[in-house]
Amino acid sequence: MQDIETLESELLSEINNANDLDTLEAVRISALGKKGRVSLMMRGLGKMSPDERQVVAPKLNNLKQSITVAIDNAKAALNLAAMQARLSSERVDVTLPVRPEMQGRIHPISQVMDEITEIFADMGFTIAEGPDVEDDFHNFTALNIPPEHPARQMHDTFYFPEKEDGSRQLLRTHTSSVQVRTMQSVKPPHRIVVPGRTYRSDSDQTHTPMFNQIEGLVIDKTSHMGHLKGVLKEFCRAFFEVDDVEMRFRPSYFPFTEPSAEMDIRCTFAGDHIKIGEGDDWMEILGCGMVNPKVLAHCGIDPNEYQGFAWGMGIDRIAMLKYGIPDLRAFFDSDLRWLKHYGFVPMDVPTIGGGLSR
Ligand code: DAH
Repeated sequence: MQDIETLESELLSEINNANDLDTLEAVRISALGKKGRVSLMMRGLGKMSPDERQVVAPKLNNLKQSITVAIDNAKAALNLAAMQARLSSERVDVTLPVRPEMQGRIHPISQVMDEITEIFADMGFTIAEGPDVEDDFHNFTALNIPPEHPARQMHDTFYFPEKEDGSRQLLRTHTSSVQVRTMQSVKPPHRIVVPGRTYRSDSDQTHTPMFNQIEGLVIDKTSHMGHLKGVLKEFCRAFFEVDDVEMRFRPSYFPFTEPSAEMDIRCTFAGDHIKIGEGDDWMEILGCGMVNPKVLAHCGIDPNEYQGFAWGMGIDRIAMLKYGIPDLRAFFDSDLRWLKHYGFVPMDVPTIGGGLSR
């Protein structure tokens, strides 16, 4: 058996030489681990005569004790040194200039689009998109607006030059065209929202030739007006960030829905500002209804099997209302001073959990 004193001085010098925690742990295992040198010696006690054991056992216990203490001390010293090294290397220079404020801003329209899609995504809708340049079928005919239909005049459509076959492409006048594209390309059930740009030849204080809409479409075997109402109520509460919103459905007409309605919400106008959910006024915010069976048939869906609802809403106006922006045209002026005032900080992404507008 190795001499106890020699072993002790060997181990102590190994401990002293350990410059990091991993090496120290390796020394500990080699001494006190199951098959460590000290442990093996202690196991040897069993084979000794009682007299011998009486002499050797206390010495071994002392050895174990002194090695344990030495390791603990070395460990504490290494930890302290590591901490001190970190403290001196992570020092903050408080005299450095502050980081400049982020200059870019999210446009209120983008912000409102993100807010709205976030709300509907949370309800289980997916986002669908379609082309801005459309054909007659998707923008009109499939939506039950045949060529001679008076609704075509109401849309002030921008047409492209006639092609050789006599057809003309156009800039979509509403996002409803994406209802058609979705129903044609994907099998029902459908639960989509479609944010996007739309175009009509119209320009005054409340109309711009390009504007933004969001469309919604739900098609399955059982959805009805009650579900439509529930979805829109939940949307209004979440979007305007109020506990309750009183809504009113007025009968209306759209070729692509039957029955059709326009939805108003209760509000008060106080100067430039509007309060949503209370007061004596009503404000129209969207058109909606049960999808006309003729539309389903145009898109290859059997109206005897499927039914559903849809709605379409202008985004620009509700963005103005929510954020107190007085003039619609400023949205499209690219005036950086305006954007700095009405825009949103890029890192504040709207979420249901974290808050939409903060
Ligand atoms: N497309 C209509 C418009 O631009 C809005 C609309 C009304 C869309 C009713 C719908 C709907 O989906 O069901 O004025």
